[in-house]
Amino acid sequence: MNTSNNTILITGGTSGIGLAFAEEFLKLGNTVIICGRRVERLNVLKIKHPKLITLVCDIADTKQREDLFNTILKDHPETNILMNNAGIQLATDLTQPANLDRVREEIETNLVAPLHLGSLFAKHLASKSESSLINISSGLAFVPISFMPVYCATKAAIHSLTMSLRHQLKNTSVKVFEIIPPSTDTELGHQRRTDKTQSHGGMPLHEFLAEAMDALKNDVLEAPIGQSKGLRAKREEMFHLMNH
Ligand SMILES: NC(=O)c1ccc[n+]([C@@H]2O[C@H](COP(=O)([O-])OP(=O)(O)OC[C@H]3O[C@@H](n4cnc5c(N)ncnc54)[C@H](OP(=O)(O)O)[C@@H]3O)[C@@H](O)[C@H]2O)c1
Repeated sequence: MNTSNNTILITGGTSGIGLAFAEEFLKLGNTVIICGRRVERLNVLKIKHPKLITLVCDIADTKQREDLFNTILKDHPETNILMNNAGIQLATDLTQPANLDRVREEIETNLVAPLHLGSLFAKHLASKSESSLINISSGLAFVPISFMPVYCATKAAIHSLTMSLRHQLKNTSVKVFEIIPPSTDTELGHQRRTDKTQSHGGMPLHEFLAEAMDALKNDVLEAPIGQSKGLRAKREEMFHLMNH
């Protein structure tokens, strides 16, 4: 995809991977819109990057997703890229009765929201001569870590949905990307850490960003980054057999 002169909506741009993409796309001469729940973070980012457009939105809320879509269509109809990035990662002990509110929050944020936003934006994106829909999944889509089973299941589902969506949009202008991060050093799962200053560990964010931008530039539609390559190997041969 062309990485400049776009208008890009990134969900979850207040930290980590979403913020890194937002700052890089700004640098490359794009109009960048981010959303998140933390108003104070959005305000600080707006001061740091006056051209950045910030919107408060909890993507786990259906009505707020619809409002976000309507705001974009009204105020930024030139938007031609949607990046579904926002996500949360919770530990869940499946040997104890599940707290379904918590389970639903994780599934709503990581799976229902990107599915819903993708479906809302599909027609709009397809009306553009060049457009992209980028879903951020995870290497854990391919090989789960058992202490965060719901998270891994949502990412496996995002991988599957992205393949189907790419197929459904194949005769349109919309390029459907899946960026598959490995463990990357962000705030993800910080609520699990007793020492909040402790790093998440994993791939340095700048290394992740360089490899991911390269994939986008070169139209690598399904892009495992760093160690995700090993996790994904040899899992996908059956898709084409089943769809052709
Ligand atoms: N870091 C990793 O190791 C790793 C590995 C594989 C995949 N990923 C994926 O990469 C994506 C970004 O995560 P990250 O590592 O950058 O984590 P992060 O630093 O915790 O960032 C998560 C972002 O999502 C936003 N968010 C969460 N819930 C939201 C909601 N209900 N509504 C709106 N925004 C929401 C947060 O904003 P607010 O809190 O302001 O709402 C924040 O901007 C996620 O989908 C994650 O699963 C990360």
